Amino acid sequence: MKLFIDTANVDEIREISTWGVLAGVTTNPTLIAKEGRNFEEVLKEITALVDGPISAEVMGDTAPEMIQEAEELAKLHKNIVIKIPMTAEGLKAVSELSKKGIKTNVTLVFSANQALLAARAGASFVSPFVGRMDDIGNPGMDLIRDIVNVFDIHGISTEIISASIRHTAHVMESALAGADIATIPYKVFKQMLQHPLTDKGIEKFKADWNSR
Ligand code: E4P
Repeated sequence: MKLFIDTANVDEIREISTWGVLAGVTTNPTLIAKEGRNFEEVLKEITALVDGPISAEVMGDTAPEMIQEAEELAKLHKNIVIKIPMTAEGLKAVSELSKKGIKTNVTLVFSANQALLAARAGASFVSPFVGRMDDIGNPGMDLIRDIVNVFDIHGISTEIISASIRHTAHVMESALAGADIATIPYKVFKQMLQHPLTDKGIEKFKADWNSR
């Protein structure tokens, strides 16, 4: 499973990119708004830090609006992937953009049927939201497992991004469920690094070394 970071904060991306583990970045309108900066400027800075798919979301409601925005965003860098919401207009846009060779990530996916539609429309990625499913009392990980099974049975190559990750267990469960990618918030990356026995082990090795 590849690891993406789910943030629009350039400092967070810079820090985690130094670990050598980052294969891509996802942003969304909420994350961009939180930064209070120019969208395109932020995207350009991100593309300079990570050489992998960088998802940027369109805000239009109709397919022509989405396509126009997508074409502008795609011009910024070859790694920009257009994030499109799971609607009928969104599917139309995905289908047109895939014919033009522009990669898409269909977002706000909450059922395997939605994932199947997105894949058949030509999406390069689908983003099922695990945490938001858990929030309404439906196990988000069941959604990942269902999509993985459907895509495996039917030989669908669209990549599954496990999104709306809230904690470290979500990351490991996504890997075990067969997600292609997990997009992980900065805070969860930091938590993944830590284990009390690692810290204790380092202390003990240091103490023993210094007592020679
Ligand atoms: C996915 O691409 C979204 O940016 C994100 O994972 C949404 O997560 P949230 O439910 O924590 O807002």
